Amino acid sequence: MARWKHATRGGILALVACAAIGVGQASAHDDPASPLVIAHRGASGYLPEHTLAAYAMAYAQGADLIEPDVVATNDGVLVCSHDLTLDRTTDVAQRFPERAREDGKFYIIDFTLAELKTLSKHGGVREGEPLAIGFQIATLDEMLALVDRLNHRTGRSVGIIPEMKSPAWHEEQGFDLVRGLHAALSAHGYNARTDPAIVQCFELNALRRMRVEMGCDLRLAYLAGDEISDATLDEVASFCDAIGPSRKLVEDDAGASLGLVERAHARGLGVYPYTIDNEPDAARRFFGRHHVEGIFINYPDVGVAARDDAAKE
Ligand code: G3P
Ligand code: CA
Repeated sequence: MARWKHATRGGILALVACAAIGVGQASAHDDPASPLVIAHRGASGYLPEHTLAAYAMAYAQGADLIEPDVVATNDGVLVCSHDLTLDRTTDVAQRFPERAREDGKFYIIDFTLAELKTLSKHGGVREGEPLAIGFQIATLDEMLALVDRLNHRTGRSVGIIPEMKSPAWHEEQGFDLVRGLHAALSAHGYNARTDPAIVQCFELNALRRMRVEMGCDLRLAYLAGDEISDATLDEVASFCDAIGPSRKLVEDDAGASLGLVERAHARGLGVYPYTIDNEPDAARRFFGRHHVEGIFINYPDVGVAARDDAAKE
């Protein structure tokens, strides 16, 4: 069984403190012996990604953490979207045909929240199965309020794992996504290392700013789609708590004496690979054979069942 190995930033102390003050109801998120099921873009295998409906379904299916990807609007509101653009997931081309940039794409940062709320959100992980029945783009505030409400009503302690999308690009557009996310999380009470929140990003510099400049104590996870060198792992371990590698990086290492998972664990870093689809066998392998601390999955119910199965093996 995988173990939570965040020794570099006092993970054990944090867990002891958590137990001592009785934070939340027992949940997999607080249990170092139980790897995490992370709802990738909500229950995005079932409903349009990053909608409140997909987040609520992920919650009901037993996800430990729910993932909002975060992008900024023209009026400085953080909204939940994987893409910087609206083309794939909304009817923007029909609603605002004259608002594309020269590259032909419609960028979220060129629209106000009020404009974005008029769009119908239909796209998602399940391409080819549009479901245009009035889903809206969600704001990060709405997502956080939803999780907060459900936690209060159920007594559970389901967490969040927001991803800053392209912070360097946002900065070029005049918006500081690091500062914006930090402010939003603080406003919703996510401040301490023991709070059920992990901030993730593909840009290490943004995570460093979150830790050093913002003074953020939340756990941080560095995402990587390509091979991660030992030097980079050392740097990540100096101020982050985990890595989120592409699943291929872990699968390609299977059988190696010192694969990525072992190299990360040796540095006290947790490992959360992305992304598992409706693949029970693969999910079981990640929990039972690769010994990761969590998986990003489009079907949270499949992830929960796979974790249970792996625990019995
Ligand atoms: O954040 C982990 C995973 O979601 C990264 O992939 O492209 O779906 O954001 P992406
Ligand atoms: Ca993501």
